[in-house]
Amino acid sequence: MASYQDLSTPQLQSMLSDLRAQYAEFQKKGLKLDMSRGKPAADQLDLSMPLFDVLNSSSDMNTSDGFDIRNYGVVDGVMDAKRLFGELMGVSTEEIILLGSSSLALMYDVVVRAMVHGVLGSPKAWGKYDKIKFLCPVPGYDRHFAISESLGIEMIPVEMTETGPDMDAVEKLVSEDETIKGIWCIPKYSNPQGITYSDETVRRFANLNPAAPDFRIFWDNAYCIHDLYDEHDELLDLFAELKKTGRANMLFMFASTSKVTFPGSGVAMMIATKENLDFVRKDISIQTIGPDKTNQIRHVRFLKDVDSIYEHMKKHAALLRPKFETVLEALDKNLGGTGIATWTKPRGGYFVALKTMEGCAKRVISLCKEAGVVMTAAGATHPYGIDPKDEDIRIAPTYPVIGELKLAGELFCLCVKLASIEKILQTR
Ligand SMILES: Cc1ncc(COP(=O)(O)O)c(C=O)c1O
Repeated sequence: MASYQDLSTPQLQSMLSDLRAQYAEFQKKGLKLDMSRGKPAADQLDLSMPLFDVLNSSSDMNTSDGFDIRNYGVVDGVMDAKRLFGELMGVSTEEIILLGSSSLALMYDVVVRAMVHGVLGSPKAWGKYDKIKFLCPVPGYDRHFAISESLGIEMIPVEMTETGPDMDAVEKLVSEDETIKGIWCIPKYSNPQGITYSDETVRRFANLNPAAPDFRIFWDNAYCIHDLYDEHDELLDLFAELKKTGRANMLFMFASTSKVTFPGSGVAMMIATKENLDFVRKDISIQTIGPDKTNQIRHVRFLKDVDSIYEHMKKHAALLRPKFETVLEALDKNLGGTGIATWTKPRGGYFVALKTMEGCAKRVISLCKEAGVVMTAAGATHPYGIDPKDEDIRIAPTYPVIGELKLAGELFCLCVKLASIEKILQTR
């Protein structure tokens, strides 16, 4: 297909009127589709239904080390679950705590506590500074940015590349400014691009020299085992690299079983050095007498061991793969060679990221909405909801069924074409 920029004005005008007619047909269909949030579909949730049967009124209610899971106690997670998830994440049981069912809630709590009390090694509480800052690789996860914004933490955008955040910028910024206290990272199958940080990027993280003695890397490993293909991305182990460089306290890692079992009813985990965890445990033991141990044990008895977790994830992949491929085929077929968009082709995770021509993303999203397809709001993947180039769009293919995705994919591409041609004609 010819690049749209190379087409003559009359050619583009004629395409525009055809596209408008097609768009009007779509509007008549009365679609009601949602490609906005990365939710598993019902068939994925069905995979974990046996979780409800592994613990019943005749089950053994004790952990293997003798704790009654029905009672108070064990402030930061039962040992059976720490052993299973510790092995999965490649850390010892002293380097993991399991709390609640949402890793996002854990991240929020960690940042709030840091604002009030600081973290291990803080000269003072983060909230005592006039202003502290977090680096935010963009496009990124809107809810990370929402945590920073709600706590008054200034966000500094850093460009994402195909190998992770622009590390020249990260290294320079953290080394010069003592008020930069953190960076949000989604190192494997990033939200929204599905990019996995390269080994070099991870090693550069392990060698950072921040001006702040209490700088922390918020390593949100939400998609650590969420491969779509047998041939999948490998993420170098940052914790191991940091141990080599003597900087292990710089890491706060998070993950959960939200997209392994049930979002909202899974097990959330934080991984860090024992010293870091001892520091936060003091506050956690004030906040709670203990987490939901019945849910943790249900997960251990259902998921069993690391091999069976990977087998379980293959079942998710089998359901998700065709959905991603449907969306990618629509993009290739309709937008390939047009020069009006570029997009990622992830091998895992929950999202595809697309870049429109500058100044078109908002228009695309509003055209989709007016024809019944809800997409993530334009700008949501940037700090403060402001995408300065108005070009980033996040596509979430996981929730709709394939038939709906085909329709939504066709409509989405149509809207990209419409918005782009309108833009090109305006600038001539
Ligand atoms: C990068 C990332 N982190 C965290 C979450 C939320 O995780 P949880 O359900 O454990 O709170 C999501 C959900 O979409 C996500 O994409």
